[in-house]
Amino acid sequence: MQASGRMERSVPVRLGAPGRNIHVGFCFLLGIAFLQVAPANAQHKQVQTAEPPQASSFEGALKQIPFEAYAGDAACANCHKEQAEAYLNDAHHLTSRWPDAQSIKGSFTPGSNILQTALPELTFEMIATNQGYFESADMKVDSGETVSIKKRIDIVIGSGRKAQTYLYWEGDQLFELPVSYWIQTKQWVNSPGYEDGTIHFDKAVVPRCLECHGSYFESLAPPLNRFSKTSLVLGIMCEKCHGPGRAHVALRSSNAAPHPGALEAIVNPSALSRARQMDVCSLCHAGAVRPIAPSLSFVPGDAIGKYLAISEPGPNIPVDVHGNQVELLKRSRCYRSSAMTCTTCHEVHKPQRDAASFSPYCLRCHKASACGMYTKIGDRITHDCVSCHMPLMKSELLYSDTGGQRLQPLVRDHRIAIYTDAQIAQHTMNPSESSSSH
Ligand code: HEC
Ligand code: HEC
Ligand code: HEC
Ligand code: HEC
Ligand code: HEC
Ligand code: HEC
Ligand code: HEC
Repeated sequence: MQASGRMERSVPVRLGAPGRNIHVGFCFLLGIAFLQVAPANAQHKQVQTAEPPQASSFEGALKQIPFEAYAGDAACANCHKEQAEAYLNDAHHLTSRWPDAQSIKGSFTPGSNILQTALPELTFEMIATNQGYFESADMKVDSGETVSIKKRIDIVIGSGRKAQTYLYWEGDQLFELPVSYWIQTKQWVNSPGYEDGTIHFDKAVVPRCLECHGSYFESLAPPLNRFSKTSLVLGIMCEKCHGPGRAHVALRSSNAAPHPGALEAIVNPSALSRARQMDVCSLCHAGAVRPIAPSLSFVPGDAIGKYLAISEPGPNIPVDVHGNQVELLKRSRCYRSSAMTCTTCHEVHKPQRDAASFSPYCLRCHKASACGMYTKIGDRITHDCVSCHMPLMKSELLYSDTGGQRLQPLVRDHRIAIYTDAQIAQHTMNPSESSSSH
């Protein structure tokens, strides 16, 4: 590679028309969340050739729910302490945040703040100053000088279970930063879908990303990654699952509190039909699907099919373990032969991180002795039904290529089934992760 004084020629910049060269992000869900456009003052000329994302033009009556309909988490906390306190540590609440020493998991300490790419002359450095936290791409050019592109981390995506990705503002356009943080190996990595040794500050973040990882935003005129900065509400708020709650708060705060049995003007998912309960989670846990209604128009209790073009893939079409718990669960005999929903096992207001602790949920419907392994292992199997029947699987869609290695996270497979040892091992064999796969 010939280095030259012009930075856009010294470092390969990946190009491609939107749609053809779709970027896979931390969730493969990013595949649809990204479209390539150039920042207002793009550093790389070539990148400007990418067409701006199409404006979303949805016909029909569905509209983004007005901000005034929401009350916000602080209001709910006044009366629902139990849910509100637990929720402060929940991955939903923490999934997008403003940057600070707590929210950013990556290290800015010299020595551990570097990502050396496959290209010797291209290094990323993560820097903390009193102006904020920055990602800087440093390139050595012919003259021996180092040229830098430096962007501030403005938004943190990911509670930090597996990884975090960072976003920055260029004017009122929102873009993803090229370096992410990988929790398990405690290292800065190329953001998933970014080729090792390239510079990309040009990946636009479109509304759907914020719809799944945040609570509120107002879109501006196209391109699609333009937002009113002050409109953003980060973290997933209570009302994403319960629906707009201002009327409920007003009702409950007034003297004329409803008599027992009266309508609460708030959605309790447990009172919905099974299909509508699943739909509440499907808004964000049904994979990379095409929106057919404006962002932030879905109301819990409504049918998700009016908002997202979810088609059930045929039974033989593989579904990646990442991001689509709904479809995988629906393929389980447990799901098909019972009234199971996501909340049969999940208490959504608080973190549940101990897979073994899920056995009691299985034992509500099964006797341990019904398991074919019972005669061999005995009561000990009750300690962990999940590791054999919902094994951790390597995602094939979600990975980062860094340091000559492919990092793939292990994700809990939601197709509850009988797996052979070989199936489990084949998917989880990864030198850098094998220690956690049992
Ligand atoms: C002024 C007090 C108050 C505020 C503020 C409040 N609630 Fe409630 N809420 C209640 C009471 C009282 C009930 C009925 C008894 C119960 O279920 O706890 C209730 C019931 C509920 C229910 C169950 C409804 C049902 O039909 O079973 C949900 C869900 C709920 N609230 C969510 C919320 C959310 C979300 C917020 C914030 C937007 C909120 N509440 C704000 C007092 C309040
Ligand atoms: C369709 C909804 C959806 C979209 C769109 C989406 N995500 Fe996700 N994302 C999820 C879900 C659900 C998970 C966690 C579940 C899983 O890993 O299977 C997740 C996980 C992640 C994680 C890992 C979080 C952690 O703590 O380990 C990161 C980082 C992330 N997403 C970033 C993004 C970014 C950045 C965008 C947009 C540019 C995006 N996602 C778009 C739903 C979505
Ligand atoms: C990810 C979705 C989600 C979020 C976010 C969420 N809830 Fe819930 N909530 C549910 C579901 C699902 C149920 C029904 C629980 C069940 O089926 O066991 C529920 C039930 C409730 C109930 C009724 C409890 C009862 O015993 O009947 C209240 C009150 C409530 N939530 C308040 C809150 C508050 C306050 C917040 C924010 C701090 C919040 N929820 C955030 C999904 C959510
Ligand atoms: C608005 C989008 C959204 C909705 C609605 C939603 N989720 Fe999530 N959920 C996410 C995202 C994003 C993550 C990943 C958070 C992270 O770690 O950054 C997640 C994570 C989770 C996790 C892993 C939490 C952990 O601590 O490991 C569970 C379990 C989960 N969701 C269950 C549910 C269930 C059940 C429902 C329906 C009642 C639901 N979610 C509704 C977006 C959503
Ligand atoms: C709500 C009830 C319910 C829960 C909870 C439940 N199951 Fe099931 N499960 C069933 C039913 C019903 C069947 C089908 C039995 C039949 O058709 O004979 C089944 C089938 C199975 C099968 C056979 C699968 C196959 O493909 O042949 C396995 C294995 C299994 N369950 C394990 C589990 C494990 C492990 C858990 C906990 C993680 C669990 N189940 C939770 C109801 C449940
Ligand atoms: C039969 C029990 C069961 C049901 C039903 C269930 N889950 Fe899970 N889920 C689990 C277990 C066990 C884990 C692993 C917890 C862990 O290892 O921290 C898990 C983990 C998750 C995670 C984190 C995955 C990861 O690897 O990071 C998400 C997201 C999630 N569930 C979403 C859902 C959604 C959405 C539904 C409904 C479509 C659902 N779950 C239904 C048992 C269940
Ligand atoms: C060490 C791995 C392992 C553990 C732990 C385990 N299972 Fe199994 N389970 C299996 C295998 C393998 C089979 C298939 C056995 C066969 O066909 O002979 C099976 C079969 C089953 C079946 C289907 C039985 C049938 O005839 O359709 C059910 C239901 C089941 N297990 C439930 C459970 C439950 C509940 C737990 C926790 C109490 C559990 N298993 C723990 C490996 C395991």
